Amino acid sequence: MLEGGRRRLPWRLFLQMSVTDQVIECLLEAARWAASADNMQPWRFRWDGATLRLLFIDDGKEGAFGIDSPATLLAFGGVIENVTRMAEATGCQLYEAVIFPAGDDKNCVFRCRIDAAAPGAPRADWRTHPLFSRHTNRLPYADRALPDELVGELAALAQGEARCRLLVDAPSVQRWAGLVREGSSLRFRNRLAHIALDASLRMTEAEAARGDGLDVATFFLPPGAKSMLSYTRSWPRMAMLNRIGLYKLFASIEADLVRKGPGLVLVTGAAGRQGALDAGQLLVRAWTRLNQAGLAVQPYYVVPDQIFRLKDGTVPEEARAEALALERASQAALPAGATLYMVLRVGYPKKPAVRSRRLTLSEVAAADA
Ligand SMILES: Cc1cc2nc3c(=O)[nH]c(=O)nc-3n(C[C@H](O)[C@H](O)[C@H](O)COP(=O)(O)O)c2cc1C
Repeated sequence: MLEGGRRRLPWRLFLQMSVTDQVIECLLEAARWAASADNMQPWRFRWDGATLRLLFIDDGKEGAFGIDSPATLLAFGGVIENVTRMAEATGCQLYEAVIFPAGDDKNCVFRCRIDAAAPGAPRADWRTHPLFSRHTNRLPYADRALPDELVGELAALAQGEARCRLLVDAPSVQRWAGLVREGSSLRFRNRLAHIALDASLRMTEAEAARGDGLDVATFFLPPGAKSMLSYTRSWPRMAMLNRIGLYKLFASIEADLVRKGPGLVLVTGAAGRQGALDAGQLLVRAWTRLNQAGLAVQPYYVVPDQIFRLKDGTVPEEARAEALALERASQAALPAGATLYMVLRVGYPKKPAVRSRRLTLSEVAAADA
């Protein structure tokens, strides 16, 4: 199930670890396998004997998401969700998740108590926890309706003000496919977004083996598309081809699978830091649940991303009117006052996905950030 650079402790060594070490190992593994935008894993984890800290790592690259960007906060929310679920499964009492303690803008802190009265070591099968099976599937999905009960099941999930809603009716799916196309058309003309995507791409097996970034083996690439992707990695080249409308072609390709359905899940929540963290928790909870039910999931962040960029001023002047129109159209399709955090394409898989990798435990469980 899990591949890539995951560090597996030899069984005998695991038996020699103290109960606390074993529990912390489970929590760190749960944290490490969380989802992040472009699989950039902008974090390190530090256990100091009483507190598990999640530290933001700023790679300093132009275009990278910062500590307060909703993309980072969604990913942090996903870590909180994974750690919380694993703590429950291992009898470790997570009695506090302090997000960004006062005076510290980079750390999210979990305080854990290993319950002395609990049976002790984590169950031998903790690695089969559903959180490790959550994954992205970017391939086309089967033309098969989703189960009716999923609508109610997803609507019942909540975290703070975050909610998710499953859309299966054709007009709604087409409406959102149109918004994804518009968001994507803006994205392919955005220099910063293009540079960030380029920095995350892993085109070869050797590059993917580094354990972070977007392994192109996980993409759905029709014949010729990989060469096209390579060719357009340079922003000046992309900008030049955009003059003859390349961004429109890319945006149509990106929206095409959304248009084919069968369903979409919208994750919404309150605006602001806590709202984004809650949405990230709920996103991962719903996603894990969907994968557990045998459904495939692909996030499309492009619509919320362009709207957030409009707010932080990173949409180029000439595209602002279009981004504003996207914001209005997306707002009109949402409950009043809700902030859109994610659009998920959901369906029955035709084929299993190639799984993304992760940085190793020793790389992310750093003694110092
Ligand atoms: C905030 C956020 C934004 C994401 N945006 C996209 C997206 O627009 N398109 C996509 O295919 N995957 C997207 N993903 C999925 C990540 O690329 C994926 O989770 C990561 O590569 C790890 O792979 P896994 O989900 O299979 O574990 C996003 C994930 C997060 C947390």
